[in-house]
Amino acid sequence: MTVPVAVAALLAGAGTAVAVDTGAPGVGDPYFPLAGDGGYHVEHYDLTLRYDPASHHLDGTAVLTARATQRLTRFDLDLKGLKVAGVTVDRTRAAFRRDGQELVVTPRHALRKGQEFRVKVTYSGTPKQVTDPDGSPDGWITTDDGAFVAGEPQGAMTWFPGNNHPKDKSSYDITITVPKDRTAVSNGTLLSRRTAHGRTTFHWREREPMATYLATATVGKFKVEHYTTADGIRVYNAVDPREAAAAAPVLKKLPSVLAWESKLFGPYPYRDAGSIVDKAPDVGFALETQTRPLYDSAPDLSTLVHENAHQWFGDSVSLTTWKDIWLNEGFATYAEWLYGEQHGGDSAQKTFDSLYARPTSDDLWSFPPGNPGSGANIFGTPVYARGAMALHELREAVGDPVFFRILRAWAAEHRGGHGTTAQFTKLAERESGKDLHPLFQTWLYQQGKPNKA
Ligand code: ARG
Ligand code: ZN
Repeated sequence: MTVPVAVAALLAGAGTAVAVDTGAPGVGDPYFPLAGDGGYHVEHYDLTLRYDPASHHLDGTAVLTARATQRLTRFDLDLKGLKVAGVTVDRTRAAFRRDGQELVVTPRHALRKGQEFRVKVTYSGTPKQVTDPDGSPDGWITTDDGAFVAGEPQGAMTWFPGNNHPKDKSSYDITITVPKDRTAVSNGTLLSRRTAHGRTTFHWREREPMATYLATATVGKFKVEHYTTADGIRVYNAVDPREAAAAAPVLKKLPSVLAWESKLFGPYPYRDAGSIVDKAPDVGFALETQTRPLYDSAPDLSTLVHENAHQWFGDSVSLTTWKDIWLNEGFATYAEWLYGEQHGGDSAQKTFDSLYARPTSDDLWSFPPGNPGSGANIFGTPVYARGAMALHELREAVGDPVFFRILRAWAAEHRGGHGTTAQFTKLAERESGKDLHPLFQTWLYQQGKPNKA
């Protein structure tokens, strides 16, 4: 008898009971095989941190409320570096071991499929940034007055244990204690700020589902301003005073940028907004940290437009696999083109044309945006620029009314959740009533420079 491969795998699994009851060390993303963890979903992270910028020492307690998606005799969390003092599951001490970026936890009692459980991890040490496959620093990146805390794609595991893949989104409480001359800025709403014994504790809450890479706990000497926009969005800006003069004219535009983006993409997905402008000269990127983008220096207007467009595309509608990164970066880049077009700058067509004029040897054509090939390429030029070109071609093919209806339907139908490239192309075909397969095939998947239609 010949056993089909899938059935054979099932049979093998059934024969080894241990293998089916342990969570996987990753969610199965080929670009980051160890990222995230199988077997459970984290509903909520409650992180309590204390950071001392002078000694670079971090003390942390993470309480994860999670639900088992299968029976679990043990499970993995991602945590890189730091020392774990103890782990409990539902208040009972659990066995644990470290294995690279995996924190492997064996609870006293197996968890039933569907069971809600609470994991508490107590940890401390000096958080160490990681280097991404593209050479960028990521994670807890120290600055001269605190830390620039970014996480895309993998840095979150440098400062808290979790299910470190955008496939798993959760709400967060993040409480950070720092010396009283520093500010600790995170996502969502600032619930309280209290100073005692020379230290200030900031309690932040993000109620909307958030991927781990979008969490921050950035610390520094910041000038803070907060206000509510005419649309009722609460803005909280934290700015390094050394960047304040350069940042001011751009940050002032945030309410109008959010209003403009809401007109194009549909309602802003969050109650809170703002900016964190740090002075982190070695970072070299900005990040769309949820509700409150993080800049390594005073941003220009285009960057502000880009990071806030990600609140719809990337933050609210999230990736299920890093391969689909053009859904984030192509969209945020196209938002920059649209902003220019509608604010006295170049038309999107002109931007497209000047990119298209680049020779076949240019970096822009080095790989197709829908298939970057590896984690080293996910922030490459084709993802941003050719990803935006794909959207421009879509717009040309379906016309403005349908194109903007597609963007709004995408943001609305996947709000707070996830989306894949296949779902996007399907939605575009549904809204337009057109066969768009050849267009997406050409612009997202064809190797080399596509010929003009
Ligand atoms: N998503 C960020 C942006 O384009 C870029 C993050 C870059 N991260 C990195 N590890 N290279 O707005
Ligand atoms: Zn981006």
